[in-house]
Amino acid sequence: MYLQRRNRILRNNPSIRSLVAETILRPSDFIAPLFIDEGENIAFEIPSMPGYYRRSIDGTIKEVKELWSLGIKSILLFVKAADDTKDNTGKESWNPDGLMQRAIKAIKDAVPEMVIMTDVALDPYSSYGHDGIVENGEIVNDPTVEALVKMSLSHAVAGADIVAPSDMMDGRIGAIREAFEQNNFTKTGIMAYSAKYASCFYGPFRDALDSAPGFGDKKTYQMDYANRIEAVKEALMDVEEGADIVMVKPGLPYLDIVREVKNAVDVPVSVYNISGEYAMIKAAAARGWIDENKAILETLTSFKRAGADLIATYFAKDAVKLLG
Ligand code: PBG
Repeated sequence: MYLQRRNRILRNNPSIRSLVAETILRPSDFIAPLFIDEGENIAFEIPSMPGYYRRSIDGTIKEVKELWSLGIKSILLFVKAADDTKDNTGKESWNPDGLMQRAIKAIKDAVPEMVIMTDVALDPYSSYGHDGIVENGEIVNDPTVEALVKMSLSHAVAGADIVAPSDMMDGRIGAIREAFEQNNFTKTGIMAYSAKYASCFYGPFRDALDSAPGFGDKKTYQMDYANRIEAVKEALMDVEEGADIVMVKPGLPYLDIVREVKNAVDVPVSVYNISGEYAMIKAAAARGWIDENKAILETLTSFKRAGADLIATYFAKDAVKLLG
């Protein structure tokens, strides 16, 4: 047989494959999400996220030190607000002595160079478990944006490097940017969850923070998974309003959206490899149906290949260890 071109030549052995690999993961690609709880010496394993914990601030600091020593440069903070602090205004979210604000300060003191990103949305603080303020059974946009601005400012005051609004209200990026400018927070960034879809894969996360919506669903603010062009519209608007980074979420079922957004914007794109995606790999691996370590690296590489510059993932620590 005569062949002019033999593609297998470049796949022949590990050395040659490494010469031509197009996508290489590195520790600084990852954002490690962390769940924080009140108390001391608390490490609660989230039942639907085996191997992943919600920790009190003391344990969180140890974890952050370890992440830093592994080469991970950013963390994304979520807190579990105490039940008696929840209401429909979400006002605990901008309490200067709230759990989030205390956590930001403590982590900044302990590991100053770690880039601290903070979740901005009302759901952990809302008695309804919604990302916004509820009036007559509806999630109202503009009053929610006012609350998100207060929350973002309080994170900036506490020392957050980047706020990450995950709520999908209209106009919040512009409003937060304006408030930062007015208050002289000219070094605080915004990572916008621009294309966040109404997804069934958030289930384990809502267990982690006890933040499932008390009524209805999130489809009047999170996007319909049928839509692609709308994701580009959302991302472009957020960039226009002042987002430094735009995010696509969830990850695996939305790789096409990651690529589409990457091609459309001139800012870094992040992707969120969410709780349900973590749970699926863990569950299948626990049954011996897939090889967990291989599944982790293949999954994370697919995000980068799709165009993600940053990957928020519960596998950050495992991945860095696997990369060696
Ligand atoms: C809520 C929020 C959610 C996640 C991050 N921020 C859940 C939701 O929108 O209901 C999900 C993260 C994950 O599933 O890992 N503002």
